[in-house]
Amino acid sequence: ALNKILALRKKLHEYNYEYYVNSRSLISDYEFDLLLKELELLEDKFPAYSDENSPTKRVGGEVTKSFDSHAHEYPMLSLSNSYSKQDIIDFDERIKKIIDVPFEYICELKYDGVAISLIYENGQLIKGVTRGDGVRGEVVTNNIRTIQAIPLKLVDEFPKKIEVRGEIIFPTPAFEELNNQRKLIGLPLFSNPRNTASGSLKLQDSAEVAKRNLDCFLYAVYMKDSIFNNASDQYNYLQKLGFKTPSVKDRYIQKASSIDDIMDFINYWDDKRNALPFEIDGIVIKVNQLDLQQEIGHTAKSPRWAIAYKYKAQQVST
Ligand code: IVH
Repeated sequence: ALNKILALRKKLHEYNYEYYVNSRSLISDYEFDLLLKELELLEDKFPAYSDENSPTKRVGGEVTKSFDSHAHEYPMLSLSNSYSKQDIIDFDERIKKIIDVPFEYICELKYDGVAISLIYENGQLIKGVTRGDGVRGEVVTNNIRTIQAIPLKLVDEFPKKIEVRGEIIFPTPAFEELNNQRKLIGLPLFSNPRNTASGSLKLQDSAEVAKRNLDCFLYAVYMKDSIFNNASDQYNYLQKLGFKTPSVKDRYIQKASSIDDIMDFINYWDDKRNALPFEIDGIVIKVNQLDLQQEIGHTAKSPRWAIAYKYKAQQVST
């Protein structure tokens, strides 16, 4: 039974990964459901072989009455904001006053969601923690396990411990679908995807969270004896471990070696952001080299090596 259980888990993890990370369907939904059912029955019959990171946990069902608090090993900082080309020029000059070696930037989308810290030990997801006040957050692991883009087990040569940070978002189509359903049964509508993503993480019943089809984009890695030199290498590494990473091909992420490159990325997304299947509220510009990030350092609130460029809000209340 144990061999069968392990084989089913391995297969289902792979199918999930292909589907949600690589957008590839290797089997039909029906066949997937049959295998999941088979695993569920075996886990019910042999509770000694249960595993909190089994693919059966994706559908939720765990109820958390009150969320434990967790002290972040590294504070969860925020970003300072910029609104114009001049602000970006000033940011660049501030950095060049601190370091005098050549460097490049990496530009990313600024996902409009809710920050999350994911902690893995020995390749297993052990905790998902909200940002909280930046020093302490709340443990929402059962809810996080229902988010398909988040691996429950890492593959390849994973480190003993790794913390990965990112943003949980409510994809716009899924958000609209949820509001349509609520409208049909006369429930009040949710006002925007970001607040609803945040509220979803705090639901007590993880089966409810599973129904919401949340997604996750990653933007930072913390590990001892890190083996990479720059932020772009970090993403390649995360991809190998089984994470979904921002696509270079779709221009979700791009290196920049000048202010013009940065402005080009900003303008591209100012035009195209409405076509994205999720909301962004700006872009993030970071010094790509990690040793330089260290050298540049941070204030009590935010890193000096990164800045957010905020787009003008699409709607304001009257
Ligand atoms: S880097 C300061 N990159 O925006 C720690 N943050 O307003 C490094 N965010 O707290 C953050 N997309 O929750 C970074 N591509 C991205 C991001 C991103 C969204 C969030 C993050 C941060 C907040 C600051």
